[in-house]
Amino acid sequence: MKASASTVAVTLVAATMVLAGNGTAQAAPTRYEAENSPAICTGTIDSNHAGFSGSGFCNGNNATSGFAQFTVNASSAGTATLGFRFANGTTTVRPANLVVNGSTVQNVSFEGTGAWTSWVTKTLSVAVNSGSNTIRLNPTTANGLANIDFLDFEVGGTTPQPPGGLIGWGTQGGGTTGGAGGQTVTVTSLSALTTAAASTSPMIIRVQGRFTCNADVRVMSNKSILGVGSGSGLNGCGLNLRDVSNIIVRNMNIGFVQAGSGNGDAIHIDHATRIWIDHNDLSSDTTHGTDFYDGLLDITHAADFITVSWNRLHDHIKCSLVGHSDSNASEDRGHLRVTYHHNWFSGCASRNPRVRFGNPVHVFNNYYNNIQDYGAASTIEGGVLVEGNYYENVPDPFHVGEGSSPPGTLVARNNTFVNSGSGGTSGSVGSIPYQYSLESSGNVRASVMASAGTGRISV
Ligand code: GCU
Ligand code: CA
Repeated sequence: MKASASTVAVTLVAATMVLAGNGTAQAAPTRYEAENSPAICTGTIDSNHAGFSGSGFCNGNNATSGFAQFTVNASSAGTATLGFRFANGTTTVRPANLVVNGSTVQNVSFEGTGAWTSWVTKTLSVAVNSGSNTIRLNPTTANGLANIDFLDFEVGGTTPQPPGGLIGWGTQGGGTTGGAGGQTVTVTSLSALTTAAASTSPMIIRVQGRFTCNADVRVMSNKSILGVGSGSGLNGCGLNLRDVSNIIVRNMNIGFVQAGSGNGDAIHIDHATRIWIDHNDLSSDTTHGTDFYDGLLDITHAADFITVSWNRLHDHIKCSLVGHSDSNASEDRGHLRVTYHHNWFSGCASRNPRVRFGNPVHVFNNYYNNIQDYGAASTIEGGVLVEGNYYENVPDPFHVGEGSSPPGTLVARNNTFVNSGSGGTSGSVGSIPYQYSLESSGNVRASVMASAGTGRISV
């Protein structure tokens, strides 16, 4: 029997709810292309690597003198969010000092993105003055800068909600503690990670470095896998959480996982329970077609009690699947319960998520931008509660049914739509058994941009 979704104790974080309809004016970042004046590129403006925005990108001279500088206009003094889009087709990090109005404020690592045509956006926060500000990247190694496409700039907005601890379905069924109580190890190679993850003992595994790989890393029960800094993780293969329970994965960058590398997913959760996926950056590119990569985060075979929070899922075609087949009711019915909150889905063409059987799957306070095909879909026996999300440039935010899968149910409330469709709903969904605070959807874009992804928590 399906209960109404509205029976839970919900605390609104902000006093004012923003119930914006289509086209409501909201703050948006201003994009400064690297190829356009007043930007300065000490190098050449090139256009030979596809996928850039505007008419080209800055290919700085390969020397510490090869800088890129933007002049931006701030409507007020305060904290600004910077989004640098870049590509680094080498396997070597190209660090740069971030210089604001002549003062170095931090050193930023621009990691290898897998190819010169694989563009990713790095988000940072800095203090700015009212009016004109210069924002410059000075490379700190002789390799020079990564290729720089643009700077997205926005100042002000609301005070972001800091990322909290575990809430949602991952607290249920006994809760998720990962490797708590076990030994803590720091691994600096793929083989050391593979060995530690395969241990049958509880273990907290700190991953230092980004390892290139071509076959899934299998993770056994009672583990915490924690990336160190902002650039640690895997490139080319993913984590496989199959037939296991009680696993935490935080602060890992996992990208460019090809379908032939095993399951082909950045994180594959299969017949696994009590899982928390938090503050990771999962991505590939959208230029290789639908099946070159598989999913970023796929959850199948009666997996259950899962929270997916504060992750960046971006530049991918099939982002997150819950339930792999309409024919799998006997295994999946009553399971596949997942909470997605405060994730940033950008340039994720579809499956954000695509749900079968899970009821309720809870999708709250996520920020979606530039979603080419669709956001969430509720299909066969699935029930999805979609609330307090912020949609920007999302023509189809959510709907029921998808492809040949029959419709599930979907309840939507308190979402903000900016230059987006309004979504499709149907029926009622199961009740939420846990307590949570629903942030006002108008704040969600700022909260998520400030705190989702890697480099936001210390491990
Ligand atoms: C290649 C690539 C350039 C890049 C350069 C570099 O030449 O085509 O776009 O800037 O490498 O290593 O910096
Ligand atoms: Ca260069």
